[in-house]
Amino acid sequence: MAEALGLARQGVALTSPNPMVGCVIARGDVVVGRGFHTWDRVKHAEVLALEEAGDQARGADVYVTLEPCSHTGRTGPCADALIAAGVARVFAASGDPNPQVDGEGFRRLRAAGIEVFLLEEFEEAAAALNEPFFHFAKTGKPLVTLKCAVTLDGKISAPVDNTGWITSIRARAHVQTLRHAADVMVTGSGTVLADNPLLTDRSGLPRSRKLLRVVLDSTLRIPLHSRLVESVDGDLLIATTSAASPERRAALEARGVEVRVFDGPRGRVDIRDVVAELAARKYLSVMIEAGSMVNWAALDSGVVDKVFLYYAPKILGGLQSLPLAGGAGRQRRTDALVLERTKLHEIPPDEFAVEAWVKAESRRDG
Ligand SMILES: NC(=O)c1ccc[n+]([C@@H]2O[C@H](COP(=O)([O-])OP(=O)(O)OC[C@H]3O[C@@H](n4cnc5c(N)ncnc54)[C@H](OP(=O)(O)O)[C@@H]3O)[C@@H](O)[C@H]2O)c1
Ligand SMILES: [Zn+2]
Repeated sequence: MAEALGLARQGVALTSPNPMVGCVIARGDVVVGRGFHTWDRVKHAEVLALEEAGDQARGADVYVTLEPCSHTGRTGPCADALIAAGVARVFAASGDPNPQVDGEGFRRLRAAGIEVFLLEEFEEAAAALNEPFFHFAKTGKPLVTLKCAVTLDGKISAPVDNTGWITSIRARAHVQTLRHAADVMVTGSGTVLADNPLLTDRSGLPRSRKLLRVVLDSTLRIPLHSRLVESVDGDLLIATTSAASPERRAALEARGVEVRVFDGPRGRVDIRDVVAELAARKYLSVMIEAGSMVNWAALDSGVVDKVFLYYAPKILGGLQSLPLAGGAGRQRRTDALVLERTKLHEIPPDEFAVEAWVKAESRRDG
């Protein structure tokens, strides 16, 4: 199963909106087939492993990281393929929460006389592998992660000269692995005007789906000569409001930018509607890399599931330097957003990142 999980991981950024899945077929100690899923190759991990195993699959043991599917999508059901190949036992690391499967894969295998085992010791690793896929299957929404680089006193930018980076090159390389695994990047017009970011995946690794870049920009302040607009390749969505000028909109659209209206409170873009639109497009994971205003608006609106905060061993101080989250903030200490399931990632020698989930009860929408 450890080898099957390793195979599945080779599908990072290559399977969305499908899950990453790895499969190993063995006869005793001898591996006779291996497979992992990628969207472009269409075939599921089990089918690829069965093809490699050929006749050796009869009576063999199958190790698969996710419950074999029982429905027909772009391919036929893997459960049926395993039954037809005559395998003896199936070991899985997790069930498939997708409502089209949800135990039906296991039921079908068992009904055909195949022994099925769920290996609980691998369940956590299997869930971590496909965190966005599991989240989407359960909630119908992408997993939204707010990522930010902060000083130890929670500041994200200096008031006078903000050139350079808060965190080190090592921390930023860590961020690139998160970006690579994400489907969508979101920022605010303030960050575009201040930093002129590209928001691309610079991991150098292949991906099956273009990383969609989204800017929240209520009045279309984004400059036509910004790096985002200049690098557009069918991958830039500007979320705006009906107050934006039609001429600006036409100028952006003429350059290939998609502009859509999401009217929200106080004349600003409605972040919840943006996330709902991303869900409709079957994006599984969204990363917010924005400034103080959008960070707070996103946290306050209840759309943020997780935070990934990179801490540099620095203190900026001052009331003028921007905090991680600005806006009005919560007015009472007891109303603070509460985080849980905290994981610490050490970035030697002196940095660390905090990965944590926003506790559902502390979100405004409950
Ligand atoms: N350390 C880091 O990791 C990091 C990351 C990103 C940025 N930054 C820093 O953050 C600073 C910029 O901060 P910022 O707060 O100005 O940028 P921001 O949060 O990226 O953008 C703020 C702007 O987004 C627009 N917006 C659209 N819909 C909104 C909504 N629902 N709620 C709130 N805003 C909405 C607003 O402008 P309109 O009303 O015109 O739409 C608002 O002024 C820069 O100095 C940058 O360097 C740091
Ligand atoms: Zn399948």
